[in-house]
Amino acid sequence: MKEFDIFEAEALAELASAADTPALEDWKARRLGKKGPLSEALKRLKDLPEAERREAGVRANALKERLARAFEARSHALAERAIATQLEGEWLDLSAPVVPARAGHLHPLTVVARELEDIFIGMGFSILDGPLVEDDWHNFEALNIPPGHPARDMQDTFFTTAGAVLRTHTSSVQIRTLEKYPPPLRGVAPGRVFRCEELDASHEHTFYQIEGLVVDRDISVAHMLYFLKTMLAAALHRDVEVRLRHSYFPFVEPGFELDLRCSACTGKGCSVCKQSGWIETLGCGLVHPKVFKACKLDADEWSGFAFGLGLSRLVMNRYGIDDIRHFMSGDLRFVRQLGG
Ligand code: PHE
Repeated sequence: MKEFDIFEAEALAELASAADTPALEDWKARRLGKKGPLSEALKRLKDLPEAERREAGVRANALKERLARAFEARSHALAERAIATQLEGEWLDLSAPVVPARAGHLHPLTVVARELEDIFIGMGFSILDGPLVEDDWHNFEALNIPPGHPARDMQDTFFTTAGAVLRTHTSSVQIRTLEKYPPPLRGVAPGRVFRCEELDASHEHTFYQIEGLVVDRDISVAHMLYFLKTMLAAALHRDVEVRLRHSYFPFVEPGFELDLRCSACTGKGCSVCKQSGWIETLGCGLVHPKVFKACKLDADEWSGFAFGLGLSRLVMNRYGIDDIRHFMSGDLRFVRQLGG
């Protein structure tokens, strides 16, 4: 009986100093486990004389139960303390100022290209596409620019070592479209083009155009003018005044350059329009019969118009960007400034 008392006192003292789960488990195994002294003592009860056995048994079981309860209480207390410590360490200051996360956004060229695409989709156009690395046929020959043609010198071309060309205009997509889709058709193709230019504030080796192509029966310059005016008014959110100037592109006949009345000076003449009152905006014209023939279409049956608009220039105009080289500079300060 005395041993029971000593055992209990020691066990409780030890339990009080067990500070974590491993220490608790260790205590439980030693004090209450099957091989622990208490279990051993209970096993030996049967060797005691009848009279003592009963009392010893009651006491031993009561002791075992007290220790088990003490163990539960201690476990509980330690768990509570652990949570309290955790809460103390992990609290959040909900009134602390937020460090703003920088969200990504579309590049201004993408914003305007998508806006124009929407305008064209509203007029029944499809969005077309073609490769950036082209062959001579699609970039030149089928567009009525045969080898040796002086128009090849109008645009300085990058060639790959394998003899392919980086497309110098999106007009190559006209050919890809006419080869693939039977007319009547309407489509626009926004995309990158490349020219080996002397670089300055308005010339870059990589820039963006939007090509347009409409093929149907009896298409005239009047149709073309209507579409282009509607498109420009929608793109610039205002009424526009335009004029057509005769111009030469081998793949259209007649060919024109379309000018917009300068919005900065309303036509009086200023530095934006170089005192002319007009801003050169796009090249256009009626599809040349030779282009139809190159694409195995009957030039007597079909007619159409095409245009190529300088998207980079349009974006510069719209956002007041003074140097085209910003677009490809990769300078995040430029991109972020136009992030909206
Ligand atoms: N491809 C011409 C250019 O890059 C523009 C153009 C397109 C002209 C379609 C007429 C018709 O300058």
